[in-house]
Amino acid sequence: MTEWQKSDWRNKPRVQMPEYTDAAALNAVEGRLASYPPLIFAGEARRLRKELAAVSRGEAFLLQGGDCAESFAEFKADNIRDTFKVMLQMAMVLTFAAKVPVVKVGRMAGQMAKPRSAPTETQGGVELPSYRGDIINGFDFTEASRVPDPSRMEQAYLQAAATLNLLRAFSSGGFADIHAVHAWTLGFTGAPEAQKYQEMAARITDTLDFMNAAGIRDEASNAVETVDFYTSHEALLLEYEEALCRLDSTSGQWVAGSGHMIWIGDRTRQPDGAHVEFCKGVQNPIGLKCGPSMTTGHLKSLMSTLNPNNEAGRLTLIARFGAGSVGEHLPRLIKAVEEEGANVVWTCDAMHGNTIKSSTGYKTRPFDSVLREVREFFAIHNAEGSIPGGVHFEMTGQDVTECTGGVRAVTDEDLSDRYHTACDPRLNASQSLELAFLVAEELAARRGAVSASKAS
Ligand code: PEP
Ligand code: CO
Repeated sequence: MTEWQKSDWRNKPRVQMPEYTDAAALNAVEGRLASYPPLIFAGEARRLRKELAAVSRGEAFLLQGGDCAESFAEFKADNIRDTFKVMLQMAMVLTFAAKVPVVKVGRMAGQMAKPRSAPTETQGGVELPSYRGDIINGFDFTEASRVPDPSRMEQAYLQAAATLNLLRAFSSGGFADIHAVHAWTLGFTGAPEAQKYQEMAARITDTLDFMNAAGIRDEASNAVETVDFYTSHEALLLEYEEALCRLDSTSGQWVAGSGHMIWIGDRTRQPDGAHVEFCKGVQNPIGLKCGPSMTTGHLKSLMSTLNPNNEAGRLTLIARFGAGSVGEHLPRLIKAVEEEGANVVWTCDAMHGNTIKSSTGYKTRPFDSVLREVREFFAIHNAEGSIPGGVHFEMTGQDVTECTGGVRAVTDEDLSDRYHTACDPRLNASQSLELAFLVAEELAARRGAVSASKAS
């Protein structure tokens, strides 16, 4: 067998990728990106794999979240800070309930290429190519803006580098100190459901105060004042991925230098396609979206291609079926995993199966559907005896109105107030935290059931 090359994907059928018309401009950008430093170091990707291996054994829990699509226009320190902060708050709530470490992975610093359901979009009788994310073309509905422009890859790289730089600074520079994360339930005051959140937040604060008073804090301070925070994105634009792919001198293996974890989308997971071909050759942890059309045959074939040595932590299966449909699909895929004896992380993307059009014309997701899908995911794993390893959300730290519902109920009429997403509707800060409290209840109940069954 000839050795894998980072350009091998070019010989495979590709879908959802742009046709660049200016080959010279494309080559020049690829050449420059290939000469720039990678964004991450292979040792970090390996550490994340280890942590995900713990998730696959039920010894840790995965929280993955962030924008559907990062955009050039929304590239601001405050946006990065606020999403990071909400993820830390969510992680704290989940840790408290699950009593295991929470592995934090942002859909950040590179999440800029989007698969689309249709190649074109029509507005007012005018048909133009679809927007495919800022790394590919522009959001404005003009012919010029929708032409794929390779120079956008370089801008995306610089944005990802600056984002990751700030995330690294926040992670180790004191910002992540959980003692400073006070105001978690501020936005919830007044709502009847809010009380249980406030009680849990108060118990967390009490625990921290106790640790502090007992002097435990000093020894543990490094663990609570700094965090490991990883980045991830869909590896959709393979010219960009190839240009940032590097040979790691420590392991002698290839690594995707574009982010810690990369995933394969539900529309680009053809077992013989270009995206699987690229991802199989890099040592990063790989995510695989599993929607309703995933057959057990495809899943088995993808597991053996992407994780031939069956290493725990290598492959994360991201279930995204939609509320009400989890029971139809998840059990058969869990069975396929069991039949193969495959080591995987199971996580629940409760967003992409729950997109609807609101009565006011906006693409939205009802909070209740998101929550229901998470609950169904847990219930099925509990029934099958498999491990619900994590959750995956499209969310932002900003106070947007993109998903309906939640304690501070966003209505169809409210959606127009602050609808800022470049692609799919995201949970706002308050909805994200509320969801964390509700997932925490599932985790706490599971923990109770697991220890009861061990005791009996
Ligand atoms: C996404 O995660 O933004 C996405 C497009 O998901 P999927 O591939 O599951 O549709
Ligand atoms: Co999305």
